[in-house]
Amino acid sequence: MSLAIVYLITGGAGFIGTNLIRRLSIPSVRIRVLDNLSAGRREDLDGFDVEFVQGDIQDAGAVHRAVAGARKVIHLAANTNVVQSVANPELNLDVNVRGTFNLLRASVEHGVERFVFASTGGAIVGDVTPPVHEDMPPNPISPYGASKLAGEGYCSAFWGAYGLPTVSLRFSNIYGPFSYHKGSVIAKFFREVQAGKPLTIYGDGEQTRDFLFVGDLCQGIARALEAPLPFGGSIQLGSGRETTVNSMVALMREAVGGDWFPPVTYAPPRAGEVLRNYVSTARAEKYLDFSPATDLPSGLTETWKWFKGLRC
Ligand SMILES: NC(=O)c1ccc[n+]([C@@H]2O[C@H](COP(=O)([O-])OP(=O)(O)OC[C@H]3O[C@@H](n4cnc5c(N)ncnc54)[C@H](O)[C@@H]3O)[C@@H](O)[C@H]2O)c1
Repeated sequence: MSLAIVYLITGGAGFIGTNLIRRLSIPSVRIRVLDNLSAGRREDLDGFDVEFVQGDIQDAGAVHRAVAGARKVIHLAANTNVVQSVANPELNLDVNVRGTFNLLRASVEHGVERFVFASTGGAIVGDVTPPVHEDMPPNPISPYGASKLAGEGYCSAFWGAYGLPTVSLRFSNIYGPFSYHKGSVIAKFFREVQAGKPLTIYGDGEQTRDFLFVGDLCQGIARALEAPLPFGGSIQLGSGRETTVNSMVALMREAVGGDWFPPVTYAPPRAGEVLRNYVSTARAEKYLDFSPATDLPSGLTETWKWFKGLRC
């Protein structure tokens, strides 16, 4: 009989999940994935010893069966697109709020030892003066942000009311391999470079973002599975660096190197777009000894290598 600890990763076939599974795959851990494959791809987990359960987190019965026997739960599955959440807030509510509730409920029933929730920084606090930190009052401006705030609320409540050790990790702008389907700026621009299409920057390109390489994010998630933590609260995982979209594109051009790079055009700014964003990593440093090691030039080079080798 195997003595390996079971980790359940919801959304494990997605961008962050496939990277995390590459990191967590060690003999003492047995990984179970619950994913409905609405965005992720089963084949991205080929070659990894995972127990794959195709199912939906909105289905309480499927969630209950998937959680049974798991010691730790990493809850990544979500309706992740902000624009889609505006177009279809009901689906966003059902998946992100009801789905998270189902996971928490089943985790209490099955005595899960730690529950790590994938949350978000910017979409929860809205347009504020950076550095963004965990103690800022929430002010979501999209249904997606509201649903993640609700998820954090339930994580806090399930720690307070039922003693389930939860932590909400607020991710910044994550980029890296396996992001082929993502709508985030780096993934979108690399797809456009590949397709030979011009890149469109909305606004003057001087808006700033906090770009964190997925490998560094996964290190933070892995630590959150083990470290002593103040349960029920949130911790931000970001680079702590402020980068303009213009300078990120200049670094993309360097990463692409001798390969052809498309022209860059500018369009009017999009309504509601945050002008400045970067996060404070003080709490992550304190509790997770978090120090992202990958600078943007190296992370972009690795990401571009992956896009070039991608076979869709
Ligand atoms: N990528 C980022 O920059 C970023 C930033 C902040 C927060 N997050 C959060 O991190 C988590 C992972 O994001 P990602 O970038 O890997 O997204 P992703 O879309 O690549 O992965 C999500 C996975 O969840 C699965 N899924 C979606 N709905 C489901 C459902 N109802 N039941 C079961 N599975 C379902 C999808 O098939 C997919 O494999 C999400 O919760 C997201 O909100 C991501």
